[in-house]
Amino acid sequence: MEEFHKVRRLPPYVFEQVNRLKASARAGGADIIDLGMGNPDLPTPKAIVDKLCEVVQDPRTHRYSSSKGIPGLRRAQAAYYARRFGVKLNPETQVVATLGSKEGFANMAQAITAPGDVVLCPNPTYPIHAFGFLMAGGVIRSITVEPDESFFPPLERAVRHSIPKPLALILNYPSNPTAQVATLDFYRDVVAFAKKHDIIVLSDLAYSEIYFDGPPPPSVLEVPGAIDVTVEFTSMSKTFSMPGWRMGFAVGNERLIAALTRVKSYLDYGAFTPIQVAATHALNGDGSDIEEVRNVYKRRRDVLVESFGKAGFEVPPPAATMFAWAKIPEIFRHLGSLEFSKLLVEKADVAVAPGVGFGEQGDDFVRIALVENEHRIRQAARNIKRFLSSADETMHNVVSLSAHR
Ligand SMILES: Cc1ncc(COP(=O)(O)O)c(C=O)c1O
Repeated sequence: MEEFHKVRRLPPYVFEQVNRLKASARAGGADIIDLGMGNPDLPTPKAIVDKLCEVVQDPRTHRYSSSKGIPGLRRAQAAYYARRFGVKLNPETQVVATLGSKEGFANMAQAITAPGDVVLCPNPTYPIHAFGFLMAGGVIRSITVEPDESFFPPLERAVRHSIPKPLALILNYPSNPTAQVATLDFYRDVVAFAKKHDIIVLSDLAYSEIYFDGPPPPSVLEVPGAIDVTVEFTSMSKTFSMPGWRMGFAVGNERLIAALTRVKSYLDYGAFTPIQVAATHALNGDGSDIEEVRNVYKRRRDVLVESFGKAGFEVPPPAATMFAWAKIPEIFRHLGSLEFSKLLVEKADVAVAPGVGFGEQGDDFVRIALVENEHRIRQAARNIKRFLSSADETMHNVVSLSAHR
């Protein structure tokens, strides 16, 4: 029987293959150190959990909530943008709460895409950036993820040669998976380009608060006039270690926010009210929770770079995000990232995310998530050292995937 139209646009997650291997190794008793999925392991700060527990006692909060977010939550998000970026937003018309930024992004794609619309999408990137639009009937044209002058010539070509002209441009800095950070000057050029060609900018700023070196990552909306063409997505998942709570935001251009709000009003009733109230409490906090989360990731980042480097696996220090993006050691590179990741599970008891899962341009890399504690990261480095020291022997027994094609 032929697969459904939409499902055909959703190939099985590449990461699933590594996950399956991980599960069977664990079932066989292996202690797998899981640096694969970007699933924050830190507990949500106690004050936020306490607020949830307090509010849930009130039966009035058990009813359907507000799809676009309760007013206090939207005001708190607007206040965050004012405080952090100096960006003034109208919480009534320029802010909508989403069930995590992933849901917001995917439903924005549903709201604005006509069949065949062309969307400019970085490669490699977080999968929903492409698949949100593919599910909505759009077509993806890949662009580079480098936030420098090399970014623009392919964009100019895309505008000249795509039919129809591109609808939207996706940005994601700090980047998942590459951890690159964009400057405000880069954003200025992006906004000028988008305005000149009448292209929508969708910026995923999920890692706004997870940065280690250099100035805090800017928002595209800091560029004067950016709001004419831009919507930006942020997330409570990483900032406050609330991934399971499903709380994020879209802010920016009124017409785009109205379109997303309309689609959502047909689909959901918003997050559970106690979650919205607890999220409001988190956003209105003094920032110390955010700093603590940031410091934990920074210490892990330093341990990862140092210990993996000593083990013979060079990992460039990421300036932001909870990921390192590391080139596969030379001797294994020809295997591709999926086979290399499988080998790491089988021979080193370490799981990482194969770069190809983020797009074909990622195949020389793996993404290493900072989601195990420092002790476990050091243990992973010891395992990898052992694995690399027997690389010649290992390689002798490996038949590369390409040999089967
Ligand atoms: C770039 C990026 N955007 C969005 C998300 C999803 O965040 P949320 O939990 O808010 O849906 C992630 C999670 O890994 C991410 O890395």
